[in-house]
Amino acid sequence: MIVRTLRLYEFRNYASAALSFADGLNVFVGKNAQGKTNLLEAVYYAGSLRSFRSSKETDLIRWGAREARVDIEFTRDEQPNQLQIKIPDQGKRSACWNEQPVKKLTDLVGRLMTVSFITQDLLLVKGDPADRRRFLDNELSNLNHRYFYSFFQYRRCLEQRNKVLKLHAEGRGGLETLPEWSHQLAKYGARLFMTRSRFLQDLNLRVSPVHQALTGDSETVQLSYQPGISVQEPPETEEAWQQAFEEAIHKVQKNEIHRATTLLGPHRDDFQIVIDGKDARQFASQGQQRTCALGLKLAELTFVEAALKEPPIVLLDDVFSDLDPDRRKSLMAFLEPRSQTFITCTELASFQKKTLKGAHIYHVQGGSVSDGA
Ligand SMILES: Nc1ncnc2c1ncn2[C@@H]1O[C@H](COP(=O)(O)OP(=O)(O)OP(=O)(O)O)[C@@H](O)[C@H]1O
Ligand SMILES: [Mg+2]
Repeated sequence: MIVRTLRLYEFRNYASAALSFADGLNVFVGKNAQGKTNLLEAVYYAGSLRSFRSSKETDLIRWGAREARVDIEFTRDEQPNQLQIKIPDQGKRSACWNEQPVKKLTDLVGRLMTVSFITQDLLLVKGDPADRRRFLDNELSNLNHRYFYSFFQYRRCLEQRNKVLKLHAEGRGGLETLPEWSHQLAKYGARLFMTRSRFLQDLNLRVSPVHQALTGDSETVQLSYQPGISVQEPPETEEAWQQAFEEAIHKVQKNEIHRATTLLGPHRDDFQIVIDGKDARQFASQGQQRTCALGLKLAELTFVEAALKEPPIVLLDDVFSDLDPDRRKSLMAFLEPRSQTFITCTELASFQKKTLKGAHIYHVQGGSVSDGA
């Protein structure tokens, strides 16, 4: 997958910008607060239809403007594609795919596949379970439409079920619909359990070699899924997950009625990261956390590459400031042969001269971009 051009109108601090890109490495260099991360965000947005940092879509519109627009041209399977998304300050966003208006925008999610590493990803290691669930949901939603759909259905069922329990606790409703909501919850929940479990098993096989390539030492990293229901062994099929979930709900239902909330399910999932036998959440040093989070993202890159049979676009925000020169070198060696990479930095001296050979360099200043070394 290769991004050929990106055009922005009234997007973040860009009144307008038009950029074309090289196949390999593209570097956005500039001082703080000039608009480097905003460029990565625009590419990410075109792939995921959400920002990697704000949940409010209208934050993307340049202050004082009425509408933001992102136009992107990219190849996938060597086919050229064109995507245009408009985000108005009021009303719904709209999109055109190869010049045709798109009815359901969520169909566009994952057409442009990106793997990104931003500061927030450090929370993967030391953050809350919700941070790790966000990682699973974001990655799996982009890759798998059934997961994306099931995720929304699960959230809807969970809200409805909690509402029934709450109204009952307040003496304002009965429990007649509870069994049906429990059934629906287990159906969609089982899909999330199954997909997350498989993904983590696969990622677990990938993460140690990537981590070792990055660090040059032999630390092993292990991921283990901690589903939000207790199971001795993770079930192997969706049906078995559904059955296990239904049984678990049955066991805690009395307590749920008493507490007026849904106590078990994928909304309580987590996964543990273990480095050389020690729980990373508790024991990892600052450097280990950074390398480990980056290793997870690169393992995900190899996963996506295998699933798509071509490398996704890599977006790295200010990653060098976290890494020593050897790790920088290893990172670039890992990425170079595979992906078109967009990387932000505040000074080009962070790169080895060799790495910058053939790279496309963009100087970013106050919401404008100039091309050239
Ligand atoms: N909706 C918006 N309209 C106008 N400007 C915005 C909007 N959202 C953010 N900005 C501004 O864009 C500027 C650049 O942001 P960005 O995060 O891209 O900087 P950066 O170059 O990555 O800086 P750093 O090196 O500090 O990470 C910030 O000063 C921010 O205030
Ligand atoms: Mg930035």
